[in-house]
Amino acid sequence: MNNILELRKISRKYFLNNKALSIFENINLSVKKKEKIALVGPSGCGKTSLLHIAGLLEAPSSGAVFVKGEEIKWNSDRILSNYRLNDIGFIFQFNNLLDDFNALENTALPYIISGNSKKIAFEKAELLLKQVGLEDRIKSFPNQLSGGEQQRVAIARSLINEPSIILADEPTGNLDLSSSMNVIEVFDRLVDEYDCSIILATHDLNIASLQDRVISIEELSN
Ligand SMILES: Nc1ncnc2c1ncn2[C@@H]1O[C@H](COP(=O)(O)OP(=O)(O)OP(=O)(O)O)[C@@H](O)[C@H]1O
Ligand SMILES: [Mg+2]
Repeated sequence: MNNILELRKISRKYFLNNKALSIFENINLSVKKKEKIALVGPSGCGKTSLLHIAGLLEAPSSGAVFVKGEEIKWNSDRILSNYRLNDIGFIFQFNNLLDDFNALENTALPYIISGNSKKIAFEKAELLLKQVGLEDRIKSFPNQLSGGEQQRVAIARSLINEPSIILADEPTGNLDLSSSMNVIEVFDRLVDEYDCSIILATHDLNIASLQDRVISIEELSN
């Protein structure tokens, strides 16, 4: 089994005022182990929609998704949430940290939800926060951290369950140039270290060019 993730003939339609709006059709994409892919394309072309399907947050209008060779059945919330928790790390554009929890707790949470002990979860979270350069800020709450620091917490959190693939939706979309490069540098190093594959949606062609492969929704869709 070579592909961590495979999208087969994926289409996405939205319905607006009873009219179907087709965003993309018949997308095929295979992601190999440790492969780093940049997903590019103009605003509104469907990058977020595609990542949500790949991250099992939304079902496609048609087509099939395979994770580690297993076809996803969209009718079992329990199975879907297991995949989301254990195989997929998702990083949202606006990082989705929980305001009432500090950096350590935010990072540890997915590991605790997976049924592991809090003690080990906090140890793992502390190591990851150290790896993203936030060892001095583990007790800080999201509103006490800069945008770049919050994204680094989100990266730490996405890695704690050692997923096979990370899906990152414009992780540097709201950061200035130097924080963006810092976040990407941390990301790159950790993705290598943890042996993950990654799909990263970005408008930044410098960041895209650092990945193994650059794909655009328009090229993939027909
Ligand atoms: N729930 C929805 N209902 C109707 N249309 C939607 C819905 N969600 C997204 N769309 C439409 O689908 C298209 C693709 O949206 P998507 O958010 O995937 O684009 P994107 O490539 O991520 O854009 P951006 O670069 O601005 O983030 C857009 O035209 C958007 O308006
Ligand atoms: Mg988007």
